[in-house]
Amino acid sequence: MKILLIYSSKTGNTKKVAEGIYKILPEGSVLAPVEDNVNPEEFDLIIIGFWVDKGIADEKARKYMKNIKGKKIGLFGTLGAYPDSEHAKKSMRRTKEIVEYENEIVGEFLCQGKIDSKLTKNFEKLPPNHPHAMTEETRKRHEEASKHPNEDDIEKAQSVFKDLIYSL
Ligand SMILES: Cc1cc2nc3c(=O)[nH]c(=O)nc-3n(C[C@H](O)[C@H](O)[C@H](O)COP(=O)(O)O)c2cc1C
Repeated sequence: MKILLIYSSKTGNTKKVAEGIYKILPEGSVLAPVEDNVNPEEFDLIIIGFWVDKGIADEKARKYMKNIKGKKIGLFGTLGAYPDSEHAKKSMRRTKEIVEYENEIVGEFLCQGKIDSKLTKNFEKLPPNHPHAMTEETRKRHEEASKHPNEDDIEKAQSVFKDLIYSL
């Protein structure tokens, strides 16, 4: 089975997870940033890594996904929210909708990734009544995100995709 691992990463979090997953893939698998625009046609399983941007996979990842048809797909992403939050679940659900009609989704994984400090600063400038204004809870979440992806996240991602590959 030929495996392609494509990732889109703006600040390096998703890239770090991608490189971790790549380590457990069989020899001959291909790892590439989305910008390389590798043709998915010659692969059987395509694992796509994205970062969450406004509640869905980022634009580069989405654009790449739209060109894939008739493949087995694994999805993984990093985001600022907790991976078990409603926001995370919704972001994954919305992302899956892009590929699930033309392909078969066989695995998925999400973990937190540190949030660009520019974004945190922008949130801090918002008035208290704004839906994205910084609260004690948001501050705590941004602080927790700043520790991710960590070794534990990478191990979990490796385990998800290792199990997946052996099950196919
Ligand atoms: C412009 C922008 C929008 C973002 N939107 C979301 C979002 O909607 N939900 C979320 O949980 N995290 C959001 N994040 C946080 C990123 O998804 C998170 O930091 C991710 O790990 C970045 O991945 P990267 O380092 O691979 O680029 C956003 C970050 C930026 C910079």
